[in-house]
Amino acid sequence: MTHIHDVVIIGAGLAGMRAALEASKVADVAVITKLYPSRSHSGAAQGGIAATLKNVDSDDCIEFHMFDTVKGSDYLGDQDAIENLCNEAPEVIYETEHMGVPYSRTPEGKIAQRKFGGHSLHHGKVAANRACYAADYTGHVLLHTFFEQCIKQRVRFYSEFQAVGLIVVDNRCLGIVAWDIQKGGLHVFHAKATMFATGGYGRVFKITSNAHASTGDGLALCLRAGLPLEDMEFVQFHPTGLYKQGILLSEGARGEGAYLLNGLNERFMERYAPTLMELAPRDMVSRSIQTEILEGRGAGPKKDHVWLDIRHIGEKRIAAVIPQIRSLCLNFGGVDPIKQPIPIQTTAHYSMGGIPVTCDGRVIYDEKNSLVEGLYAAGECACVSVHGANRLGTNSLLDATANGRRTGRTIANDIGKLKLNALPENPMEDTQERIGRVAGSTGREKVIHIRHDLRDSMEENCGVFRSGERLQKQKQILKDLLERYRQIKIDDQSKVFNTDIMEALELGYMLEFSELIVEGALRRTESRGAHSRTDFPKRDDVNWLNHTLAWRDASGQIRFGSKPVVIKNYQPMERKY
Ligand code: FUM
Repeated sequence: MTHIHDVVIIGAGLAGMRAALEASKVADVAVITKLYPSRSHSGAAQGGIAATLKNVDSDDCIEFHMFDTVKGSDYLGDQDAIENLCNEAPEVIYETEHMGVPYSRTPEGKIAQRKFGGHSLHHGKVAANRACYAADYTGHVLLHTFFEQCIKQRVRFYSEFQAVGLIVVDNRCLGIVAWDIQKGGLHVFHAKATMFATGGYGRVFKITSNAHASTGDGLALCLRAGLPLEDMEFVQFHPTGLYKQGILLSEGARGEGAYLLNGLNERFMERYAPTLMELAPRDMVSRSIQTEILEGRGAGPKKDHVWLDIRHIGEKRIAAVIPQIRSLCLNFGGVDPIKQPIPIQTTAHYSMGGIPVTCDGRVIYDEKNSLVEGLYAAGECACVSVHGANRLGTNSLLDATANGRRTGRTIANDIGKLKLNALPENPMEDTQERIGRVAGSTGREKVIHIRHDLRDSMEENCGVFRSGERLQKQKQILKDLLERYRQIKIDDQSKVFNTDIMEALELGYMLEFSELIVEGALRRTESRGAHSRTDFPKRDDVNWLNHTLAWRDASGQIRFGSKPVVIKNYQPMERKY
């Protein structure tokens, strides 16, 4: 079956729906999601969305937000894109307020703001209250509000359709092929404009804050269509995942004054970031936690975690501003954080890299920023690059919302000029053949076993700290896993809700772009932001102040290129907090 729309957006998280709200002012827009929209992973974001509203700190200013974001990115963020992000943030937040987002409030009734890692006043002097929040359900309320607005604006949703193929002919995107999860069968979505907003891929790692659906589908489809991915070696590990589960325990807790303690009850951040302490950027806090554990100062019988202590915040304030943290600890960790410290460990949280796009959300396909006509991307799946080598907390909801809006506007502007170009004779041919091959697999390997081996080995060899030796080992492991993937067996042959096939497809995606993460990390012989090499511990601006572009051809050969970083007002400096 073929569906025709002006615009097809894949992904119903914040970026996708915010773009849909803009584009649907002038065009017929369809949003395709492999979930139900309100189950998108944006809903798991807890602590806040950054903007210089000055509701708590009257001396905050947009320039401080820009400086913090550039410095937080370890100078790999593109400063033109960062300027846009920080300049647009206040307007973007007030728009969401007017749409109906129920933000927490200051005593005077303004949108409440709290502290978050790496956000500061006066260029790092003191932590800034810049995160606008709705208790610790900020992503959840934004997501529901955008969904309501999309329905009001008659955006067409195709829920439980999984994108499985991207149709690009001569650098012109014509739409996608999707699998109908409910009924089985392939559908073509033919469009003038196609946009990816498919989120991240935390599921490549064993301990992750990401939902089961975060398998990087959009990235893999671009890669298979011959397009590059940017900066894939930069993966963010959030400092406070619930021990063993990885479930996010918001940095908002530290914004409210929570401490980190090691097994000796020391506030160990004094050693690593004496000014901002627990509110240093995530890459630093995660490395500090890992260092405490590696040097034998972890907590518990295995000394393999540390503590997040929120007890002093008090039951009343916890209930008002971080209630979800308490319920997650009670339900999934068996601890009551009002009475006990919470065991935590670092958790794979966010992908700084992704589909390379211009500041306006147009997908590019080479080092010269040449455009794929009719193809756009925003949110975590895209690399614009506002986060560079390390994202600051609360800049992701902002990125999804601001760059979702920006990209939606670009599409709205372009749509009059874009034609509905003819599809190739059989647009589903490749996809049909590939799905048929996966569905008919009769080998002896279980998808779940390969998936677990992928997650365990990526965690061990490509985590917070990396080394050439471990990355080499992981490169070989991935080759072996890809070989085993060719021998899988699919048991379920039904068409309805066939999660066997879905998960096999997702595993194929993850294996392919994991090679880019690992080989990109191997190639980048320096430490920058979230990419920390024990064998190359220093940042090397002479050789590595540039973005990585990586292509993977059908035979699995990876080719690397690079792109300069856009530097405007801020020259790279040493990063101290
Ligand atoms: O800690 C948090 O609430 C996460 C926020 C973010 O990733 O921006």
